[in-house]
Amino acid sequence: MTAENILVCVAWPYANGDLHVGHVAGAYLPADIFARYQRLKGNRVVMVSGSDAHGTPIVVRADKEGKTPREVFEYFHSRFLETQQLLGISYDLFTHTDTENHHAIGQQMFRRLLANEYLFKATQKQLYSETQGKFLPDRLVEGTCPICGYDKARGDQCDNCGNLLDGTQLINPRSRNNPDDKLTVRESEHYFFDLPALREPVLAYLADKDGYWRPTVLEFSRRYAEEMEARAFTRDLTWGIPIPVQGAEGKCIYVWYEALLGYLSATVEWAKITGQPDAWKEFWYQPDNVRIYNFIGKDNILFHTVLWQAVLIGMQRLGEPWDGLDDSPQNRGPKFNLPYDVPANQYLNLGGQKFSKSLGVSLDAIDLAQKYGADPLRFYLSLIMPETKDSDWSWTDFAQRNNSELLAKWGNLIQRTLSQIWRNFEGRIPQPGELTGADQAIIARAEAAFNSVGEKLNAVRLRDALNEVLELATATNQYLDFEAPWKAIKTDRARAGTQLYVAARVIDSLTVLFAPFTPGLSEKARAQLGYTDPLFGEQYIETLQERGRSHDVLRYDASRAKGEWKPSRLTPGQPLGGEPKGLVSKIEVN
Ligand code: MF3
Ligand code: ZN
Repeated sequence: MTAENILVCVAWPYANGDLHVGHVAGAYLPADIFARYQRLKGNRVVMVSGSDAHGTPIVVRADKEGKTPREVFEYFHSRFLETQQLLGISYDLFTHTDTENHHAIGQQMFRRLLANEYLFKATQKQLYSETQGKFLPDRLVEGTCPICGYDKARGDQCDNCGNLLDGTQLINPRSRNNPDDKLTVRESEHYFFDLPALREPVLAYLADKDGYWRPTVLEFSRRYAEEMEARAFTRDLTWGIPIPVQGAEGKCIYVWYEALLGYLSATVEWAKITGQPDAWKEFWYQPDNVRIYNFIGKDNILFHTVLWQAVLIGMQRLGEPWDGLDDSPQNRGPKFNLPYDVPANQYLNLGGQKFSKSLGVSLDAIDLAQKYGADPLRFYLSLIMPETKDSDWSWTDFAQRNNSELLAKWGNLIQRTLSQIWRNFEGRIPQPGELTGADQAIIARAEAAFNSVGEKLNAVRLRDALNEVLELATATNQYLDFEAPWKAIKTDRARAGTQLYVAARVIDSLTVLFAPFTPGLSEKARAQLGYTDPLFGEQYIETLQERGRSHDVLRYDASRAKGEWKPSRLTPGQPLGGEPKGLVSKIEVN
């Protein structure tokens, strides 16, 4: 099998508030499970994202707190690094959009689209606050969605139906932070993105996604692409990427377009800091043997299935250097690879309500990870991952699934098997005798799981994959219950040794099968089995320097990782890594 290049792109969170479990279940965790699986498979994985530093969400928070946008973004960016490291979201690079690298490539995107005549100047009608004497940014306008009737739609999009809007389309628009604002409509000059001119290639791209894209994502995207009109590509804002045009002071690239471009600029940055400056081209330009995935929540769909494709097609190629439009033939790259799949998730809710800091509906991921550890949280979020419909976080369910599944089915399985080996076989994996039909059956089932679970993971059916692994754990428990080596040990030590060997061997396989979901637990279980090499690499936060400014990023060092997606070949005689201790704790929720 030739290794594939797999680029795992994860939605860029706005750096204006802590991450909650909805973000984790919606995008970061599924991306990480997928990336870890692909790494175990031996594919070349690069997983990128970063903090979305720009846009009104950051400016609004800064205004409220009397801080600069940069102060706000830097604070939350460092919280994001800590949170994602704690959760084990294994980014090859988690950077942000306030880097020189990103700004330069962002301006290049603008020049490229302008040179290719996909940007044109026009006036835009916008809501103006007479009270404040300024245009209201999209996100500060709220009103009723003209499409679905949701009464809290914002000026840029409706979170209920996912449609993209303009502030002037809202029914009864009002200012979000100032209900007495008198709003009028005024005109402002902007660059518009000529989406109708890109309709055909975008529809052609969407035409061959049947069968593997989630059907709702595909239908929604096609419907939008068929009808889409030109949209403003710039905003009246000073915090962002200034557009590289003389006399256009005070205008920035609309935050969404440059945040999307982050997938590309972060791959470029990753290539640079890993000392292989051209390696990004193997993901973005080389047409064969590459799959690009975008892990996002449903409120981000159209940006990732239509607008981003339109940008990539519209740029055609991106000349280097980034800080000028160098169109000489040797600087022309080939066409960009477009996303292979965009497995968007629905929402994880809390008590039936959408997460909302302002309404007090929130569960911060960092608090939960600190309190319970990453694995119990990852396990539960994987079980309730909103892959096909909205799901709901429940505290009692969280405790129950931890106690009756992660602990009872998996933690205890390891514990009871290894402690018998520790006590009765001098802490070494026993030498098996002849295998019975039952022994062979459970081993064969574990071996077969690598294909069937692997197929589900590769198709991003993560919940199904985890359920299948859990069924194997249940079957292994049943095997042990039936064989009862603790009885056999009294009458037939050799048979007890065979039973425990079989159980340990299946457990060994299970550590790999569970690893994408609960990697920390798998590493610990493997250490108890006596392995010294880790399955995965290590995450670390690093401070990088860029033309005199420093910025912190999250990285992944795979140099010691030895994991492989294949069944156990557990060697008899292998010494356990010390006296086995319980690896999963009970969670009490009152
Ligand atoms: N910052 C946006 C949000 O939090 C998501 C941006 S995803 C990107 O909703 F791809 F555009 F970066
Ligand atoms: Zn709507």
